[in-house]
This record gives sequence, C-alpha cells and structure tokens, in this order.
Amino acid sequence: MKSNNQGKSKFKSVFVCQQCGKESPKWLGHCPDCQAWNSFAETRVTLSRAPSSPHPSGNKPQELSQVQKGDFPRFQLGFTEVNRVLGGGLVPGSLVLVGGEPGIGKSTLLLQISALMAECSKVVAYISGEESVNQVKLRSERLGIVGKGIYFLSEPDLAAVLECLEGLSPQLAVVDSIQTMYLEDVAGMPGSISQVRECTWRLERWAKQNNVPLLVTGHVTKEGAIAGPGTLEHIVDVVLYFEGEPFSNYRVLRSAKNRFGSTNEVGIFEMSDKGLVEVDNPSQVFLSAYKDETMGSMVVPTLEGNRPLLVEIQALTTSNNFAPPRRIANGVDFNRLLLIIAVLTKRAGLKLFNQDIIVNVTGGLKVNEPAVDLGIALAIASSFRDAKPISGLVALGEVGLNGELRGVSQLDRRIAEAIRLGFQSCLIPRLKSKPSFDFADVQLIQAGSVAEALRLGLTKEG
Ligand code: TYD
Ligand code: MG
Repeated sequence: MKSNNQGKSKFKSVFVCQQCGKESPKWLGHCPDCQAWNSFAETRVTLSRAPSSPHPSGNKPQELSQVQKGDFPRFQLGFTEVNRVLGGGLVPGSLVLVGGEPGIGKSTLLLQISALMAECSKVVAYISGEESVNQVKLRSERLGIVGKGIYFLSEPDLAAVLECLEGLSPQLAVVDSIQTMYLEDVAGMPGSISQVRECTWRLERWAKQNNVPLLVTGHVTKEGAIAGPGTLEHIVDVVLYFEGEPFSNYRVLRSAKNRFGSTNEVGIFEMSDKGLVEVDNPSQVFLSAYKDETMGSMVVPTLEGNRPLLVEIQALTTSNNFAPPRRIANGVDFNRLLLIIAVLTKRAGLKLFNQDIIVNVTGGLKVNEPAVDLGIALAIASSFRDAKPISGLVALGEVGLNGELRGVSQLDRRIAEAIRLGFQSCLIPRLKSKPSFDFADVQLIQAGSVAEALRLGLTKEG
C-alpha cells in the first residue's frame, strides 16, 4: 500500500524547460514561458499516477454542509516563532518546503527543530544528501544536541530514502535538500527540474500516506525562486523562506504559501555561535544602536507580515561633481529610492543631482512596503541639509509622484509599537477623518506633502 509504485510505473517522454518547468511534447529551442534559450531536456515522466479508473482511491464527493468540521491536530515545535509562521504548529502529513540561499541556516534550523521534537520523545528521521554523518555530528555538538531519537542517513537516492523511512516509521522526517535527491528512473541530473519535481511528488505522497510531517529544504535560484517558479510550490503544502543578509546575524522566516494558515506571519531569529535563537522583542534589537536626533537617520514602524517592527533607516549624501551621481540602496527597493529622490528634487526643491546617495536599513533587514517612503525621504533630506530630525520622532507614509503623502494600513498598530519603545511623535500622512484610535502618549504630526513633512519633521539647518 505504501510502495511508490515503481514496479507498475509506465513512462512517457516529454521535453521540460530546465529553467521554469514548462512541458512540451516536442523539443523547443526557446521557451515561450520564461524566454530561456536551449533549456529543454527530454524527460521520462511516470504515468502510474494517472489511473485508468475514475475513482481509484474510493473517495466519494460529500456535500459540504454534511461535513463535520475537524480541526487539524498540530505538532507544537519547540520554536514558537516557527509555530507562528506555520499557523499554529506542524500539521501531520504536510510537506513543508524551507527555501533559502546556501549558508543562510536552513540545515541548522531543521536540525534544531529535529532536536526539539526528539526531546518530546518523538522519532525523527534526518536525511541529508549534502552532508556526511560526521559533518552533521559536528554541527549537532556545536548546537549542544545529543541526538537521542534522531536517526541520521546520508543518502541522495530517494528510493533508498523512502525505503529507510518505511523501516523507521518516524514521527517527523527531514530531507536536506531536495536538489541533492535523485531517482534512478527519472532523467536528468540531481537538481534538474524533472528530478526535483518527481522527488518532491514522491515525498508528498509518502507524507500523506503515512500522515507524517515532512520538512524539505530547497536552495533558491538567483531569481529567488525554489528550482523554478511554480514547479514545486504547487506540490507542497507550505512554502517557507528563510532570509537574511550574509553579513547580518538576523534571519527572517516568512511564509509564502500555507494550506493550513495565513501567510502573514513571520518569525525572527538571530544566528549565534550556538545556533538559531528566537528574537522576542525584534524592534528593541533592531534599534539597539539607534541614537535620537541623529543626522540622516529615521525610525519607521514597518509591518513584517502581521507584526509591527521598528527599523532604522539611514541615509548619507555626499557631493560628487565629477562622476555621474551614484545611488546605493541596502535593504530598500532601488527603484523606490530613485522615485523618492526624484520627488525630493522636483517637489521639495532639494538639489540632489550632484549627490551620491546611500540608503541603508540597519540590522541587514529588507523593507519593501511603500509605508517606509517618507522615512527614506526624511533621512535623505536630513543628511543633505545637515538638519536633525526632531527628538523622539518616527515617520511613515507612502510618497506619490506629485509629492503627496498617502495613508498606510494598520496605522494604530504601528503607532502603538512606536509608543511601546518610547517614541513621542509620529509624522503621518494627513488623516481624512478623526482617527478611530486615541493615543494620549503620542503627538500625531500630520502632513499633506513631502515638503510639509520636511518642514515639520526636521529641525532648522546647521
Ligand atoms: P547552514 O545551516 O549550513 O546553512 P544552509 O543549510 O542554509 O546552507 O548554516 C551555515 C552557516 O551558519 C555557516 O556559515 C555557519 C553559521 N552557523 C553559525 O553561525 N552558528 C551555528 O551554531 C551554526 C551551526 C552555523
Ligand atoms: Mg544546508
């Protein structure tokens, strides 16, 4: 019942784009979907999962009103941050893909999760196609993990992996990484689209048939997708991305797809010399080096998923009369930065055309929401004019091309977080009506345009 049907499998040949996974019955030189050249490779695909009988599983349609609502039983992992991102814990039988750049800490995270599960007397199978048992032993010693209850196998052949899982009957299984797994009966190198897709599919079936949660890591490509967009993400139940800058110790676990919960939650970790540590109060950590009234520095209450998070945005402007001016964006969107510089030049009269401008989000965080626009604009203007921001100020607002300020979502939660960390003033886009929230501890400074915000938020020059 649990076999992967290898004996009965039938195969057919298709041509698959190794960049994006598009299938074609004949070879193509140019992929019509992702525009890649010479990317099609012949691939044998298994036909056994296309059954001839219409209802092979015996499943019958049920009227929805007659269905009893059942809650998913969930395993609570030892990390509350991971439980939160998963929507309240790990659902048995779910296949969770953890994607991230090499070296970001995926193996570390999964080994720590395995150890926390094993501590609760659960049997964990940890399969690695990348590392030997000695390498993993070294890492586990560094993390202070004894390893009781964790069964390690170094094996890239997925058929052997599935056989081992059958014998072990674990309560949690980890496969690190999907790109190193291969199946003899599938064409292509390990890591090719056809291998990755077929391996994921078989793992998904194993997890569902045995009702065991399965965590799989995947390296992301340069474009930031796991082995081609849309190829894996629709097979698995949950897609998590583990992100962070290599030079920074902070890591963000973000959910991109979750069949059992919302995708708005994030978990924040710090990579220490003893592995990943959860960060309980991220705003405080990210502002630990912040000093009030610093030239070129603004604090912005952003939202990371559902969580308000205070980040510091710094800007430095320096005259450059000889070469074309340079703009460097670390942690903010480059095109957004160009837009804000253009608005400051045209709508607020700042002569930035001969200035090199560097904008940086401290702590190595990435903030992509438009609510940080005003903070970036104020930081640049503060550095350019040598004018400090007024004391105890945070700023938020989206900047439009005409220099107007636009409202942002969940203003009250962002302001509440700023108050919690001791900020006294909040520069915001002008409110159309009286706010529904009432904060006695904060002065709301409303501005209609970027020019007005600069007048209200910065002290006099010099
Ligand atoms: P790893 O989990 O191997 O990353 P991935 O599986 O995503 O490729 O993590 C590798 C990095 O983490 C490595 O550069 C060292 C660092 N690290 C620590 O800083 N502290 C630790 O306790 C561990 C185990 C790793
Ligand atoms: Mg790894």
